Parts: sequence; C-alpha cells; structure tokens
Amino acid sequence: MSWIRERELSLVERLTANILKAGPMPKHVAFIMDGNRRYAQKTHVERQEGHSQGFEKLAETLRWCLNLGIHEVTVYAFSIENFKRSKEEVDGLMELARQKFSRLLTEQENLEKHGVCIRVLGDLTLLPEDLQQVIAKAVVSTRAHNKCFLNVCFAYTSRHEIANAVKEMAWGVEQGLIKSSDVSEVLLSECLYSSNSPNPDLLIRTSGEVRLSDFLLWQTSYSCLVFQSVLWPEYSFWNLCEAVLQYQLSHQSLQELPPSLHRYDHIFLT
Ligand code: IPE
Ligand code: IPE
Ligand code: MG
Repeated sequence: MSWIRERELSLVERLTANILKAGPMPKHVAFIMDGNRRYAQKTHVERQEGHSQGFEKLAETLRWCLNLGIHEVTVYAFSIENFKRSKEEVDGLMELARQKFSRLLTEQENLEKHGVCIRVLGDLTLLPEDLQQVIAKAVVSTRAHNKCFLNVCFAYTSRHEIANAVKEMAWGVEQGLIKSSDVSEVLLSECLYSSNSPNPDLLIRTSGEVRLSDFLLWQTSYSCLVFQSVLWPEYSFWNLCEAVLQYQLSHQSLQELPPSLHRYDHIFLT
C-alpha cells in the first residue's frame, strides 16, 4: 500500500470539490488520526490491522487533499505518550513504520510525479536505530520535492517540541551565539520542528475525542478546530468536505482577528 492512493474522484466528488474550492480553502490541514483500535474492535479485526488500515486511510486522505488543492498536511501518527502502550502494540507500530518508510524508498517515481516532500517531526532519538536510519533515508529522498508537503509527527508531543526549542535557545545563549534579549516568540517558532511550515489553518480530530493530546499546541493557537465522530480508518471524502465547510463557515470570524494575531505568517511566506 503506497503513500498516495492513485484514484480519481467520482463525478459527484469532483463537482463537490469544485464548489468548495470556490470558497476560501485551508492551505494547511492537520489531522489527529484517532480511533484505530476502536475500529479494529468494531470490525472484529486484529488491533494491528486497525493501525494498518489507518495508514491506508492516510494515503487516501492525502489524495483527497491534493484534489482539493490543499498542499500541506500534518498528521499525528505516534505520540511520545504512545510509548506507554503495551510492548506488543509499540513493537507492532514500529514495524508498521519500518515497512511504510522502506516502501517510500521504492516509490520515488510516484512521489516525484506529485512533488511530495515528506518530513518527520519528533524526537527521532527515541526510536530504534534501524528505524531512525530508514526514516532519515526516506526524508532525504523527497527533500527536493516542493509541490506538496506531508509532515508526519512521530515520537512527537508539543510540550517536548517546545521544551526542546527552549533548550536550543538556552544553548545558543550559553555559547554566545545569541543574546538573552534575542529570545522571543518568533525565535522560538523558528526552533520548533515545524519551523519550515506555515501554521495549520484547520485541525481535524477524528473518533469523537475532544482534546488535542499534546499536538501542535503552539502552532494551532488560531487554527479552526474540527472534531468529528468518525473513526480514522473509516474517514471519507465527505467527512473531509464537511470539515472544510466548517472551516469556511468560521473563516469570516478568523479573518476578523487583529492582524497582530497572524504575526507569524510573514516568517513562513518569505
Ligand atoms: C490512533 O488510534 C493511532 C495511534 C495512537 C497510534 P488509537 O490507537 O489511539 O485508537 P483508539 O483511539 O484507542 O481507538
Ligand atoms: C493521539 O491519540 C495520538 C495519535 C493520534 C497518534 P491518543 O489516542 O494516543 O490520545 P489520547 O490518549 O486519547 O489522549
Ligand atoms: Mg486514541
């Protein structure tokens, strides 16, 4: 199963996409892909199969995002907290990541065709060494692509990311590279794993849970948040359209925020 599902939209899906695209569209969408285990339970399949189908849904969702002209997607694939799950489940998820990132290395043509740049955000030192290597190779292999971006948050939590950025700034001050007066919100943003991306316009969490679970806390301060009850492996094109519609309905009020609240935008647009 590949990283981008090759399937054209049906006529009615295409029509809907075109109607949505007449309105303001999010440029960057983040997903908390939640509900894999409940899906496995519901459909009487193994837990690992639920996670595997969750990955397949990512490939399909990426395709829909491209069809809708959304060129940046960030997904929460594995949190640092998830290391606390049973050894069997963590090992299974690491194995799935090994397979998928190795597979990515064999899919260069397809990724190049779509210009997909894949980044992995998180504390990769927490991962088994062989997985770190596969991820590094995969990331390097798509580094030059620039039509669309997929950021996979893996071994990630937002507080860990922010603490890491603070440590980096403290180190800079200690080494005399920056002054303590240089420490600012803008500099901290530049020290985050996400420094190469604009902030998400829309954050979607599936499975009915209404919390952020330590995901992109800094970056989503002014994003539109949409919580949907569908379990991630069952996510559909129509669920995505509904979330985009909610974004469009809230867009007006987001536009009315004082310009100072959009102040990071300029960093990413230059
Ligand atoms: C999200 O689904 C995937 C990961 C956290 C790796 P879950 O595994 O959290 O599934 P639920 O939420 O327990 O159903
Ligand atoms: C958040 O889901 C992490 C991912 C989707 C990878 P969790 O299922 O781990 O979060 P909690 O435990 O419900 O907050
Ligand atoms: Mg969950």
